[in-house]
Amino acid sequence: MTAGAGDSLAPDPPPQARTLFGPAIGLAERYAGLLAGPGVERGLIGPAEAARLWDRHLINCAVVAELVPRPATLIDLGSGAGLPGIVLAMLLPDVEITLLEPMARRVVFLDECVRELGLGHVAVHRGRAEDVAGQFAADVVTARAVAPLDRLAGLALGLVRPDGLVLAIKGAGAAQEVARARSVLRQLGARDVQVVTAGDGETGAGATVVRFTAGPARSRADRPDRPRTARTAAGNGRVAGQRQGTAPGRPNRRSGSAKRAG
Ligand SMILES: C[S@@+](CC[C@H](N)C(=O)[O-])C[C@H]1O[C@@H](n2cnc3c(N)ncnc32)[C@H](O)[C@@H]1O
Repeated sequence: MTAGAGDSLAPDPPPQARTLFGPAIGLAERYAGLLAGPGVERGLIGPAEAARLWDRHLINCAVVAELVPRPATLIDLGSGAGLPGIVLAMLLPDVEITLLEPMARRVVFLDECVRELGLGHVAVHRGRAEDVAGQFAADVVTARAVAPLDRLAGLALGLVRPDGLVLAIKGAGAAQEVARARSVLRQLGARDVQVVTAGDGETGAGATVVRFTAGPARSRADRPDRPRTARTAAGNGRVAGQRQGTAPGRPNRRSGSAKRAG
């Protein structure tokens, strides 16, 4: 897979993209080329998306970087073609990121993007969130366009550490989704549920994000849908929020960054 700057099928970045990405704009342009070229060819994004890659996709994800605490470990749940995970990785080189995606074709594309963009702090993990629940304990879980909030919350909370953060990029209906999911969120122990706008007036770019915090270890351990063993099995030495001795992952490059759970 090659998509050099000279043969990119992506449109040129608009001025606010240059402001948002700053020194990472070159990487962002290469990623846009990969999405508009192989991404469209392989049906990972629709052909119509190529023209609106910047405003609808890359910028929509880039503004979320300001909501990510640092340093941190982060899992992008249902990364698809890398949104928002790859975009966040370009902007947050000190955040250990795992792209979690079940579909083989997408995983291949993600692996290629990580390699071609030289994102050494990013791992790609093939799997469904419900199947790896309890095997990760990331500081932050992001998701965009994966599932309605009530279902997404259950998936995300299976990947995040106690008191960790979930950032769900949503559309204009975010507040209504929160209202509908309120009782499920409460049952799951989610707290500080807020609808926030990421981005600023300076660039005119923004994204609506549902942000909430996972419950502390005690209340999460007591949840009926979450086996106690999964809450207490964490060990030191995992990376990007992965629990020790569970699913395959990359070797630890930053011990101490992932928090002990349980
Ligand atoms: C509509 S796509 C969105 C992809 C990307 N986040 C974006 O915004 O372009 C939904 C993605 O979530 C993945 N997905 C769906 N259910 C999932 C689950 N239970 N666990 C992990 N990923 C899931 C799908 O394979 C798909 O790649």
